[in-house]
Amino acid sequence: TACGTSWHAGLIGKNLIERFAQVSVQVEYASEFRYNHSIIDNKTTVIAISQSGETADTLAAIKKANDRGAITIGICNVPGSSVSRETDCGIHTRCGHEIGVASTKAFTAQITILYLLALKFADSRKTITKNKLKAYLDKSAINSGLRSLSKVLKAEKSINKIAKKYKKASDFLYLGRGLNFPVALEGALKLKEISYIHAEGYPAAEMKHGPIALVDKNMPNVFIVPKDQTYDKIISNIEEIKSRKGKIIIITDSRDKILKSLANDLIIVPKTNHFMFCQLATIVLQLFAYYIAVGKKLNVDQPRNLAKSVTVE
Ligand code: M6R
Repeated sequence: TACGTSWHAGLIGKNLIERFAQVSVQVEYASEFRYNHSIIDNKTTVIAISQSGETADTLAAIKKANDRGAITIGICNVPGSSVSRETDCGIHTRCGHEIGVASTKAFTAQITILYLLALKFADSRKTITKNKLKAYLDKSAINSGLRSLSKVLKAEKSINKIAKKYKKASDFLYLGRGLNFPVALEGALKLKEISYIHAEGYPAAEMKHGPIALVDKNMPNVFIVPKDQTYDKIISNIEEIKSRKGKIIIITDSRDKILKSLANDLIIVPKTNHFMFCQLATIVLQLFAYYIAVGKKLNVDQPRNLAKSVTVE
């Protein structure tokens, strides 16, 4: 349970915990959970995710879970905060003080913690072999992931160039599948928050059930396309948008020619694994939103109408 960006991290956590540890997970907005009829008892574990540790709705959700006898775990960036104190146990993301109102490093830290937690759950439930676990946590794999992150950060000039082209758009669609559906939601939220451009995130295949009606020659569509089992399906989604003259921005780890032919703009990140790809795509989208906002001469740290921590219901 969580709000905003932290809720998006929760969606990634669900995918990872179900995948590795084979435990069923529900992800609830804290503001809904506090009043809804979710079945919570002393056999339930409730993980509350919060950068600030002071979000009113998340605290109310923790109180409800505690009252029902659930085990509560906090994933939080601020030691000593209310979330840290009110939960039974927890993990601090410790990614440093986050200054900008739009959450960025807190999100990548939250999903890293959730990845490790999912692997740890899997290990204790014996749903993963020791060899697989070792491979996921292998130091050289982690170091190569880190090198890929710095390569993405070094590509910021080209991301800036693309952002300049689209800064006048009034609406964006962000599309991804699996782990990258929450990444699409998060990319759209970042853009809304700091550039004041309307953006929506959708699972890529869901686009044909409504949002496609919005597509015309003025609409940029950001596709997150790792080379995984749904790659071919996403290509056909891209073709559908292309045939309606929508602008296509693709973030991928594939060098296939077809992507070049479909994209108006193509951002290729290094090849890594399914989890690291979603980290890399997140950073591309954060930079993209940042440069659109900078291009529009907006204050990226203090966007209008927003506070860093929402301490009222
Ligand atoms: O401090 P929290 O993680 O509990 O905050 C939750 C949301 O208010 C927060 O993530 C908000 O959506 C951010 N402004 C997103 O950038």
